Amino acid sequence: MMIQVGVIGYGYWGPNIVRNFDSLDGSKVVAVCTLHEGSLNKVKKAYSDLRVTTKSDELICAPDVDVVAIVTPVVTHFELAKKALKMGKHVLVEKPFTYTAAQAEELIELAEKKNLKIGVDHTVLFTGAVRKIKQLIDDGTLGDLCYFDSMRINLGLFQHDVNVVWDLAPHDLAIIDYLIKEKPTGVVATGEAHFNGLEDIAYITIYFPNNIIAHVNVNWLSPVKVRTTLIGGQKKMLVWNDLEPDEKIKVYDKGVDVKTKDGVYNLLVSYRSGDMWVPKVDQAEALKLLAESFIECISNGKTPINDGLAGLQVVKMLEAVDKSLKRRGEIVYL
Ligand SMILES: NC(=O)c1ccc[n+]([C@@H]2O[C@H](COP(=O)([O-])OP(=O)(O)OC[C@H]3O[C@@H](n4cnc5c(N)ncnc54)[C@H](O)[C@@H]3O)[C@@H](O)[C@H]2O)c1
Repeated sequence: MMIQVGVIGYGYWGPNIVRNFDSLDGSKVVAVCTLHEGSLNKVKKAYSDLRVTTKSDELICAPDVDVVAIVTPVVTHFELAKKALKMGKHVLVEKPFTYTAAQAEELIELAEKKNLKIGVDHTVLFTGAVRKIKQLIDDGTLGDLCYFDSMRINLGLFQHDVNVVWDLAPHDLAIIDYLIKEKPTGVVATGEAHFNGLEDIAYITIYFPNNIIAHVNVNWLSPVKVRTTLIGGQKKMLVWNDLEPDEKIKVYDKGVDVKTKDGVYNLLVSYRSGDMWVPKVDQAEALKLLAESFIECISNGKTPINDGLAGLQVVKMLEAVDKSLKRRGEIVYL
């Protein structure tokens, strides 16, 4: 069965969505909507057989469209997705899923009622690195998790509608939700806005049961680009540097062994420092795998790992971060 996709939004990210859904065996793109004349011409030039329109309603109502991909700014996601679901279309929505958790819940309920699939474009979950890390956690290599610590910083690109948290942190929050099976209990966030009233730097701490802690640093004002995550387990620790072309993940057989717990003064701690190894990371394009997985879930009735609930979980954390930011670091319980 060929699943036909309509894509709303053809700015920076839209072309990647169009290219990937159009190149799969199980799907093809039949229509694209964008508000800008310039990008309309770009679509026409790249894909002469696609219908193009500036009216999202026209695309959403088209009988030959099975899936609507929504690749527009976050403030527009809810209305467009709601219309598409009401018209009986499956939806793939860009990250972050919606602007509020209530909107996400409404879309999830609507999709369930109509037996339709929601996918959220948490592309990063389909990268070779995250798939490898998930495997190292699930097969017990890392042992029980202690912490997740991520730095996602660079210069720009300032967004005019959302702060740095809503722009960059959805990647880390989606990973955290995917890798840590416990649900977060509280969020503490500090940050500052230096230019347009929207925070351009933020430090986010997330508490989980079983003493697991996550920290995410996002920043648009960094002179250098850093994409580095540390994950500490009881058995092994790893460093994931996404800017490394080949050796993205290094797993360290390092850790702390506590011999006795009889009182603080008798605590016997020994440090273990063993080998380091570099697991192989698959280089396939993440967005291609995400598109493939979504089409397969629609065809076979399976639930995507990046479903509406995964999107909701990220939006809940984003809302808590904003609340804590406003209160200058007060803990917000989830
Ligand atoms: N998954 C990822 O890694 C990733 C990467 C970049 C961007 N994104 C997400 O993609 C989305 C779009 O980001 P972008 O950088 O491509 O934005 P952009 O501003 O470059 O493009 C937005 C597009 O949406 C269209 N548009 C805007 N409002 C519309 C409306 N009401 N109806 C119809 N079309 C409308 C515009 O005409 C334009 O074509 C955002 O949600 C962003 O967070 C995701």
